[in-house]
Order: sequence, then C-alpha cells, then structure tokens
Amino acid sequence: MHILSTKDLPDSYLDRLYGRTLDIEKYSYRYTDALKGKVLANLFFEESTRTRISFETAMYRLGGQVLSPNIKDSSLVKGESIENMIKTISQYADVIVIRHPVEGMVSKLAKHSDVPVINAGDGANEHPTQALLDLHTMLKFNQKELFERTNLMFTGDLLYSRTIRSLLYLIKRYTDIRVCFANDIEEKNIPFSEYFIADEKSIPEFLSATDILYMTRNQKERHIEGKNDTKFILTSELADTMPDHAIIMHPLPCNDELPEEINNNPRAKYFEQVKNGLWTRMAILWLMLRDYDNK
Ligand code: NCD
Repeated sequence: MHILSTKDLPDSYLDRLYGRTLDIEKYSYRYTDALKGKVLANLFFEESTRTRISFETAMYRLGGQVLSPNIKDSSLVKGESIENMIKTISQYADVIVIRHPVEGMVSKLAKHSDVPVINAGDGANEHPTQALLDLHTMLKFNQKELFERTNLMFTGDLLYSRTIRSLLYLIKRYTDIRVCFANDIEEKNIPFSEYFIADEKSIPEFLSATDILYMTRNQKERHIEGKNDTKFILTSELADTMPDHAIIMHPLPCNDELPEEINNNPRAKYFEQVKNGLWTRMAILWLMLRDYDNK
C-alpha cells in the first residue's frame, strides 16, 4: 500500500498506527532489528530537514538501511525520465520516500514503482506523514476526551500549506472539533460542512478560547513573495493569553511568525511534533514492511 494522501487512509489504519506509535515510543529497544535487511530510498527533489532526516533515522532505528541518492549526480542529467528512475530504484529498495515540488507528481510516479511509495510532500497538495504525526501530537497532548468541544485555529499561509490540507482530511473524522481558519483558504477545498473563517487581525481575540493553535509559515517558494504573505506574529504576551492547557503547533520550519522566545513557553509543542515524527514514521515503516498479518 502506498501512502499518497490522508484522504484514503481507513480508520482502522489510523487506529493501528496510533497504537503502534505509542508502543514504539515506549519500547523502542524491542524494535532495533525489526526491519533488518530492508532498504529505504529517500528521493527528495525539494529541500527538507525534518522529513528526510526523520525517515532516515526511523529506518536506522529499526535496523534497516537507507539510500539517499544525490539527484544532481543521477542519470536524470543524461536525459533519463524520472519515471524510469523510479522504476529502477524500486528494483533496489523496499520502500521509496519521494518529495517533489509539483502537485500530483508523487502519485504519478508511484504508478511506476514496484514497491510502496510514501509521499513526503508534493507541491501545495499533500504531506500525509506530517499530518499523521500532527494528529498523533494532538491526541497525545489535547486533554479533552477525543477532542470534545475542542477549538482548533489555523493561522498562516492556509492557501499553500500542504500540511494543513492533509491534516484537515484526518481531523474531519472527529466531529467535535470546531475549526477556525484565521486567513484566506479556498473554501472549495475544506472537507467540512461547518467551520469559521476569521480575519487575521482578530486572531488575538480568539486566542483565549483556542485549545490548539496550528501555525504555518508563508510558503514563499509557492507564490510571488509578498503577495499572499500573512502578518500574524505570536508574541509571548499573546501566547500567554491562551489557556494553560492549550498547545501551540507548527510543522516547522518557522520564520518570523514564531519567535524563538516561544520555544520555552510550556504550550509550545512543535519540537514534540518533531520527536513524534520519528516514532510515527517508525510505525509507518513497520506497518508497511513488517505487519504481515494486515497486508
Ligand atoms: C513542511 C513542508 O515541507 O511542507 N515542513 C515539514 O515537512 N515539516 C512545512 C513547510 O515547509 O512550511
């Protein structure tokens, strides 16, 4: 099974993934040889810190190995098609992780692979494994039973954020979450019947009632710089107007919207997201390459 979008992930998969992620976090020493002999290929046609390195670390911590070919030194330079490159790599690896700047490209390439493909971000479209680790973090830190009457606010570049798009498909399964978008978002893409759109300027008024604040940076590489830029900056004063139990999330990297002083705020959970990303990706790889019973 490929992982290309969060849209098509069954509830049963999410349950198994959540349980497995918790187990791996608690008993990671039991998994050190779980994927011994397996090989992951990381193919990144766009920059990355967390996603690429966490897949790499996840595979090593499960006892597997990683290929990270340098795209610039590959036969693409000799005019080989990217489709044939994927077909070739799928003869060597057991799983291929692909990030590409063009929307829909990873799904297209997956059709040429003989092994499972994981979408590590395709343009402004989707980033399913980020959404899975985000949901895991929310479930872990939100103190309300299954998001009962939980207010979730999204800020930043909602139009071009692939992490938000993938996350929306997941959280729409939790009907008690009340979602507020503090910015422009194409309404046709929102998979809910009920939601609230606020003006960016009114974010401070909403913070005292926000349980989960999910911020994103301006995706400058996907639009003309300045054109869609959002201006909201979370200062320490504003963060302290949020309830004590509230959590601040961000897929990272962040820019001006999230000053470093917030890193020490007890509500800040974005480095926990990074850590959960490792456990979640270990669980994703384990389910994909090892969970024979559920194939
Ligand atoms: C995000 C991405 O690449 O989509 N980062 C990530 O994978 N953690 C968010 C971003 O680039 O803004």
